[in-house]
Amino acid sequence: MSRYISGIKPTGHLTLGNYIGAIKQFVALQNEGELFLFVADLHALTLPINPQDLRKNSIDIIALYLASGLDKDKVNIFLQSDVPAHSELAIILQNYLYMGELSRMTQFKDKTQKMNSEAIGVGIFTYPILMAGDIVLYDADYVPVGDDQVQHVELARDLVRRFNNRYGEILKMPKAVKVKNGSRIMSLSNPTVKMSKSDPKGDIFLDDDLKVIRKKIMSAVTDLGHEIKYDVEEKPGISNLLTIYSALTGISIPDLEKKFAGYMYGQFKQEVANVVVDEIDKLKKNYAEIINSNIIDEVLNKGKLAASKIAEATLHRVQKAVGLYK
Ligand code: AMP
Ligand code: TRP
Repeated sequence: MSRYISGIKPTGHLTLGNYIGAIKQFVALQNEGELFLFVADLHALTLPINPQDLRKNSIDIIALYLASGLDKDKVNIFLQSDVPAHSELAIILQNYLYMGELSRMTQFKDKTQKMNSEAIGVGIFTYPILMAGDIVLYDADYVPVGDDQVQHVELARDLVRRFNNRYGEILKMPKAVKVKNGSRIMSLSNPTVKMSKSDPKGDIFLDDDLKVIRKKIMSAVTDLGHEIKYDVEEKPGISNLLTIYSALTGISIPDLEKKFAGYMYGQFKQEVANVVVDEIDKLKKNYAEIINSNIIDEVLNKGKLAASKIAEATLHRVQKAVGLYK
């Protein structure tokens, strides 16, 4: 059985992009293999965050995972900081990645572009080291991630190659798997940029009011012409809405083009809004039940135990390989 590992950073309200590009994909994978999912709370510290927000966001993500249909008996859900092996391994692995490689990471460049270089925290630079450790700790076969994280998984692969060349077959080679449909949900107000928690008009947040969600979809930027057709170059707005509809319903894009042939843009948006609002409404109801129960602690305790067992074994293997006296 294949093993999957993935994490989400608890840095803020999650968007429909996170839901489609990450969470929904996990729900689909839980029946295909062994799934380890964690909240990357240590990663959230790489940019300033209030302690109360960090704590609340972390619990929120667990509740959302469960509300989205992840089965607590099938999936191992845990907090990164609950498994100290993540931190311990990163301290070792940092010696096998290079300044040059880390400087070339797109996410680092994007996030620090506007910062004073004298005051960029070291953690945002070394972020991919911690992430590579997160992955290799679990001897995972696959890492399901959205587009923007593939570069980090590639770096983890380079690290595995380098480490194993030097010490023998110690680390398992992971592979990124991208969502088939919806690995890059775009902003509704500017469909040429990613939906990314930064644009209150164009980003749909899972905790938005349902009325607000409907309004955002009805005001989504569309394209010239009137055909409901998937064409990212010529019709990025309509293509994005088709992607969202398809990801939420499982209906393929060619089938949707047939279904909506002859629809006006406004009618089509109404249909998209219905699908999105229905899904988020269900999610909100499940979420409210979960957040008011004590199921979260139970899930986290179980996840921590299962994760620690595997993570500690890998850490031990690495410590021995490099010559730490164990
Ligand atoms: P982040 O919120 O950036 O920590 O991302 C958490 C997960 O959601 C990662 O796997 C991302 O690739 C995925 N993700 C974030 N934004 C989007 C988006 N607009 N479309 C698809 N996936 C996304
Ligand atoms: N860096 C990822 C993000 O920003 C979160 C993450 C941390 C992750 N460690 C990981 C994802 C390991 C997959 C595997 O979304």
